[in-house]
Amino acid sequence: MNETLERWSSRRAFILAVTGAAVGLGNIWRFPYITGENGGAAFLLLYVAFVLLLGLPVMMAEILIGRAGRRSPAASLAYLAGQAGRSKQWWWLGVFGAFTVFCILSFYSVVSGWSIEFLVSSINGEFVGKTAAEVGTSFDAFLANPRLMTFNHTLFLIMTMGVVASGVSRGLERLNNLLMPLLYLLLLVLAGYAVTTSGFGRALSWMFRPDFSAVTPMVLVQAMGHAFFTLAVGACALMAYGAYMPENQSLPRAAVAVAVLDISVALLAGIAIFSVVFAQGLDPSEGPGLMFVTLPVAFSNLPFGSLWLSLFFLLLLLATWTSSINLAEPMVATLQGWGLRRGYAATLIGTLVWLAGFACVLSFSTISEVDILFGMNVFALFSTIPPEVFLPVGGLLIAFFAAWVMPESAAQDALGIGKTGFQLWRQLLRWVSIPLTLVVLVSGLL
Ligand code: PFF
Repeated sequence: MNETLERWSSRRAFILAVTGAAVGLGNIWRFPYITGENGGAAFLLLYVAFVLLLGLPVMMAEILIGRAGRRSPAASLAYLAGQAGRSKQWWWLGVFGAFTVFCILSFYSVVSGWSIEFLVSSINGEFVGKTAAEVGTSFDAFLANPRLMTFNHTLFLIMTMGVVASGVSRGLERLNNLLMPLLYLLLLVLAGYAVTTSGFGRALSWMFRPDFSAVTPMVLVQAMGHAFFTLAVGACALMAYGAYMPENQSLPRAAVAVAVLDISVALLAGIAIFSVVFAQGLDPSEGPGLMFVTLPVAFSNLPFGSLWLSLFFLLLLLATWTSSINLAEPMVATLQGWGLRRGYAATLIGTLVWLAGFACVLSFSTISEVDILFGMNVFALFSTIPPEVFLPVGGLLIAFFAAWVMPESAAQDALGIGKTGFQLWRQLLRWVSIPLTLVVLVSGLL
């Protein structure tokens, strides 16, 4: 397979694209509810530590491989391994990545479809004056309605694949350039509003005053998995974006910018959500329903509640859209590398993801009791194992490849920094990120 000639048009475009991949359900839906379930500040600290010690160096490794290979992820791995005189079987890591993004995109599209539904409902003012029990019942009724859920899932997937089919500069880059600044602005408006509510003080102390007694090995695994998930690291998806990175850009600087933006979005979203939840005396440890049940109730009792709530679901939708195009890109790029036209590749991948997503939809009704593995139905399986196990395993192998397999000179060139900085990064990867990921993974699995 030949080198790709596509490039992001500027440094800013690259940073926005990677931030678009990173900021998504992970920050706005998953981060608040798992922080809520795991006791608040202690989890937050762990997550930030994992982002800095693992997520960030591995993210650099992943983007660097793409940039050095300039091909689809699997092809880049095979090409670079061949160059280093190693086995081309590293190709399989790209295949594993493609399988991971496939599973993630399948449930991701379904949950993003919920945000379309909730956006419409909140614009229509359907939550106004409802009690928590009433909103809970209507959420359950929505989940039990496969037609409606399939409709939203289909719509979302068309939005995603339409952009991916349009190509890197006309599709991905344009969407990210437009949506990311808008998303940040929306979030600032919402967080600014949260500051004026009576729950703001409690939200701050809950988020920032740690209680380490709540930390178990499982919490560690979750915090680590979340660090990978939120940065979009470990599935070779950023490798695909790295292949389009311009020559004259510092990779570490871009990666740090993305990590800072990603953490700040999670914090701002957390502040916005928990302030409103506390202002209404609701429970922050509600679980996955936090965003879809607690939040509508919390907002609906506040002045202009429907407006704020609509903005929230709009924010969620924009964030998931830019992440989904990143999830789809490596699969489409691979097929394109095999000679398929981009439009066909996007249609084919879209159809396969649609089918798997359809099984996720049915997991809430018809096949909810069907146990696929470890007592989990399709949705539960797709939304836990790939984020919590596949991403760290993929991240581990990516880190290993960049730290031990790639020739030093090729890695340094692609990282685009001086010798000292390069050595620092490589030693961090070899002696901190890789062992730490292994220890947490093994302790969690035991
Ligand atoms: N980072 C995205 C989020 O926080 O929602 C999810 C994600 C995107 C995970 C791309 C993995 C990936 F490859």
